[in-house]
Amino acid sequence: MSENQEVTVETSNAGMEACCVVQCDLELGENYWNNQYEAGKTGWDLGMASPALVKYVDSLPNKDARILIPGCGNAYEAQYLLDKGFTNITLIDIAPLLVEQLQAKYVGNPNIQVVLGDFFEFEGQFDVIIEQTFFCAIQPYMRSEYVKQMRKLLSPEGELAGLLFDTRFDFDGPPFGGCKCEYKPIFDEGGLRVDEMEITPDSAKPRAGTELFFRAGVKKSTDACVVDAACGIKQYANIAEKLQWNNENQDKK
Ligand SMILES: C[S@@+](CC[C@H](N)C(=O)[O-])C[C@H]1O[C@@H](n2cnc3c(N)ncnc32)[C@H](O)[C@@H]1O
Repeated sequence: MSENQEVTVETSNAGMEACCVVQCDLELGENYWNNQYEAGKTGWDLGMASPALVKYVDSLPNKDARILIPGCGNAYEAQYLLDKGFTNITLIDIAPLLVEQLQAKYVGNPNIQVVLGDFFEFEGQFDVIIEQTFFCAIQPYMRSEYVKQMRKLLSPEGELAGLLFDTRFDFDGPPFGGCKCEYKPIFDEGGLRVDEMEITPDSAKPRAGTELFFRAGVKKSTDACVVDAACGIKQYANIAEKLQWNNENQDKK
């Protein structure tokens, strides 16, 4: 198959069209994503801020919180944050065409900066990081790196929150789906404490019933929570208890 040959994939999955215009085994880097924007193949774009994230933003008390949206795309959530008076918003995306447009849109606005770059190489400290169809856009083998990088970018009391697909797609991604039983151990092992990860009733209509809303923070040495065999979060009183659980459940992991 030639590099520019179009891949047609029939799907009715969760309001997410397959978004490949080029072969999906290509590296999912700058060129891939820029081509998607150039071709107008943005099946992931809701055209509005997700209601679940609007609800989350409405719950944030500190308008000066340092907020990051990685893989921001058309950044409807960022616009909502601005409209609500948030003053310290950073967007990062790897697609130059998209970033040029966003930089032009927000030129001169001191409350938002738009960075062209690779999330995995980005540096900074943030109080809130918002996830919206970025996790599902990276190769599944990069998920551990994603969590480690999120952990680095979060301030000690910071929070990563957003939406993850709780569904599988019947085509090669992106998007790449999954379920919370896959996600929770990756977060746990990467040093993030999952405080919430449940199907949300607040998805945009085409994704209803297929999204998990989650919140996660940086694990502290005193946090002794582990993901149990039934995929729940088990909280332990101390590290010794957790180590004992680990030893007893080694084979079940
Ligand atoms: C599926 S789109 C989602 C866009 C947006 N979050 C939304 O929901 O509409 C994935 C986005 O992540 C960006 N992206 C992919 N890999 C990236 C990386 N390593 N660093 C920064 N952005 C990346 C793409 O350019 C694209 O805009």
